[in-house]
Amino acid sequence: MARRGSSAAMAAGALLAQLMMLLCAPAAAELPRLQHPAKNDGSLSLLVVGDWGRKGTYNQSRVADQMGEVGDQFNIDFVISTGDNFYEDGLTGTDDPAFEQSFTDIYTAKSLQKPWYLVLGNHDYRGDALAQLSPVLQKIDSRFICMRSFIVNAEIVDFFFVDTTPFQLKYWTHPKDDHYDWRGVAPRKKYINNLLKDLDEAMKKSTAAWKIAVGHHTMRSVSDHGDTEELLQLLLPVLQDNGVDFYINGHDHCLEHISSRDSPIQYFTSGGGSKAWRGVFEPNEDKLEFFYDGQGFMSLQLDHNKAEFVFYDVNGNVLYQYTRTANHLQPSGGYVSEK
Ligand SMILES: *[C@@H]1O[C@H](CO)[C@@H](O)[C@H](O)[C@H]1NC(C)=O
Repeated sequence: MARRGSSAAMAAGALLAQLMMLLCAPAAAELPRLQHPAKNDGSLSLLVVGDWGRKGTYNQSRVADQMGEVGDQFNIDFVISTGDNFYEDGLTGTDDPAFEQSFTDIYTAKSLQKPWYLVLGNHDYRGDALAQLSPVLQKIDSRFICMRSFIVNAEIVDFFFVDTTPFQLKYWTHPKDDHYDWRGVAPRKKYINNLLKDLDEAMKKSTAAWKIAVGHHTMRSVSDHGDTEELLQLLLPVLQDNGVDFYINGHDHCLEHISSRDSPIQYFTSGGGSKAWRGVFEPNEDKLEFFYDGQGFMSLQLDHNKAEFVFYDVNGNVLYQYTRTANHLQPSGGYVSEK
């Protein structure tokens, strides 16, 4: 039984713990790390979809069905979502029926009953962002693994998932009628500095054959949103310094492959999970390899030596294919790309 003195001490202790948490919350720390084994032959297959949660409308269900087919064909290991998981304003809470209406009831194919690794998009931040990060959702659908920034070690490849929404300055300074849920994020500068430090440290430790970064926002894009200057300034140097091979994003509702003119990094946009057809095309400084303004998704097959990307439309037609041979095969340290 607790005496008065010790309960006061406990209260003081709890207060101190809370204070410590407050002080420590935005500090640099190791990013959460998940292990996902490759297949027995050392290969890995996955699908990437973004910008999707619309209760099946705008061809979301058609894309989902084709993902099921391709997922089956490749016996995929997991699915990556590049964010904007629920429109228009994320989830209202962990009890929002949109979670099942836009996710569980849509991606029903057997091949898609695998872990889904998800990041948050700007629309997710306009609702209860913490709801999507809550383990409560995994009790409803255990596939849903959403965190702000984290790492998936998949033997031959390390995936670095990056929370890109806080980078975009205009969401903070000119939110218009939108409200962004910055709980656990503000202040912006500190959050970004710590995140970049954590990413750099984790990337330096990585010994996988491939390094892939995933975020919601575009770095390079020829569509509606175009390039994201903050990411080019702040995040890109970290990816370049650490020999990251690919950056994969959503945000623009289309499918794109852009290659960098000044580094081996390749940019892939897979943001065609539902509403698309924006009708915008604005070339940028980098080299456009492929652009499709409609709905669809991407598959990625990796082994130690090569990475194969394929884009598909709502009917499952192959729109584009790209294969990269691994850096580590080139004695000169150069790179080879074939199409
Ligand atoms: C659904 O996909 C078809 C085929 O690409 C397209 O013609 C149609 O406009 C799409 N519907 C919507 C609502 O985007």
